[in-house]
Amino acid sequence: MSILVTGGVGYIGSHTVVELLNRDEDIIIVDNLVNSKPEAINRIKKITGKDFKFYEVDILDEKKLENVFKENNIESVIHFAGLKAVGESVEKPLEYYQNNVAGTLTLLKIMIKYNCKKIVFSSSATVYGDPGTPKYIEELGRGKTTNPYGTTKSMIEQILEDLYISDNSWNIAILRYFNPVGAHESGLIGEEPQGIPNNLMPFIMKVANKELDHLNVFGNDYEGTKDGTGARDYLHVVDLAIGHIKALEKLDKEKNGVFVYNLGTGTAYTVLEIVEAFKKVNNVDVPYKIAPRRNGDLAIYYADPTKAEKELGWVAKRGIEEMCRDSWNFVISNMRG
Ligand code: NAD
Ligand code: WQD
Repeated sequence: MSILVTGGVGYIGSHTVVELLNRDEDIIIVDNLVNSKPEAINRIKKITGKDFKFYEVDILDEKKLENVFKENNIESVIHFAGLKAVGESVEKPLEYYQNNVAGTLTLLKIMIKYNCKKIVFSSSATVYGDPGTPKYIEELGRGKTTNPYGTTKSMIEQILEDLYISDNSWNIAILRYFNPVGAHESGLIGEEPQGIPNNLMPFIMKVANKELDHLNVFGNDYEGTKDGTGARDYLHVVDLAIGHIKALEKLDKEKNGVFVYNLGTGTAYTVLEIVEAFKKVNNVDVPYKIAPRRNGDLAIYYADPTKAEKELGWVAKRGIEEMCRDSWNFVISNMRG
C-alpha cells in the first residue's frame, strides 16, 4: 500500500517525503514541476538513501492521473499540489481556480473511483480572513478571504466537508499552515523561489546573499506588535512535515471524519525580530529600509496550536534560530552552487 504525494517535489512536499521515507513508508510522487526542479528528487533520494516512483503528471490530466492509481495500490493521498503566490492569484484568478480547485476535483473523482478515501490537504491560515483577533483557533471557522489564492483554499475545505457529508466513509485531515520557513538540515532541499521573492524569509536569504541590495520592511507603525513591524507565526518546514505524518497516523486510527488542525508554533515574531535573529545566527548582514505597508497585510496573527497538540501529539520543536540557520545553510550549500 502506498501514499500518493501530489506536489511532492515542492518545498513542503519534499520535506514531507523525506520524513515519510525515513519512516519506511512506501510513497509515490505526482508533480508537474511547474514550481519545482527534478533535481530535488535526486536530493530526496540522497538524504534518505531510499527510492520511490515519480510521475511527471499534472493533476488536471485525468487520464494520466488515473493511470497512477491503476498502476499502484494507493491507500492515502497527501495533497500539496497547487499554485501559491498571493499576488499572482490576483493577476490570474482563473489559473488559480483552475489549477487548485479543478485539480483537486479531478484528484477526488479518481480517488473515489479507486476507493481511496483518505486525504491530508494543505490548507492555510489565510482561510481565517480577518477574524478580529490575532490568535487563530480552529473554531473561528473560515472567514472572508482577501485574494483568489486564499479563496481556492477556502473552497477546497468546503468541497472536502461536503464530500464527507455525502459519504461519511471519507477520512480527511485539513491542515492550516501558518508561515513555513527553514530547510532540511542537510542543505540539500529548501525553498528556491524563481525571480524576486514575495515572502519574507526567501527575500532575506537573497539580501544576505547580496543578490538583492536591501529588504523593504512593509510598515513599522502597526499596532499590537513589539516594534511596529508585522508579526507572524513562522514554523520550521521539518516540523510542518512531521505534522503531516501525525495527521496520517490520526486518520489511520480514526474510521472516518473531517479533522481540521492549525499547524503553527503559537508564537509571533516581527519582521525586525526575524532580521535580527538571521543576522546574529548566521553572522551576515541584512540591510533593510522601512517601506510603506503592503496592501492586504494584517498587523499580527498566530496559531492556537492546542488542538494539534492534544489530538495529534504534534508540537513544533524547532525555534527561530534553527529556522534562520537552516534557511541560510540551504543558500550556502545549494543556491551558491
Ligand atoms: P511549492 O510550489 O513549492 O510546491 C507545490 C508543488 O506542486 C510544486 O512542486 C508544483 O510543481 C506542484 N504543482 C502545482 N500545480 C500542480 C499540478 N496542477 N499538478 C501537479 N503538480 C502541481 O509550494 P509549497 O510551499 O510546498 O506548498 C505546498 C502546498 O501548501 C500548496 O498547496 C500551498 O498552497 C500550501 N501552503 C503553502 C504555504 C507556504 O507558505 N509555503 C502556506 C500555506 C499553505
Ligand atoms: C510576512 C511578514 C510582511 C516581505 C503569505 C501568504 C499566506 C501563506 C504564507 C500560503 C509580513 C513582511 C514580507 C518583504 C516584509 N501562504 N514582509 N518585506 O503575508 O504572512 O503570508 O505566506 O498559504 O497565505 O499570504 O507572509 O512572508 O509574505 O510576510 O516586510 O519583502 O513579512 O509585511 O508582515 P504572509 P510573508
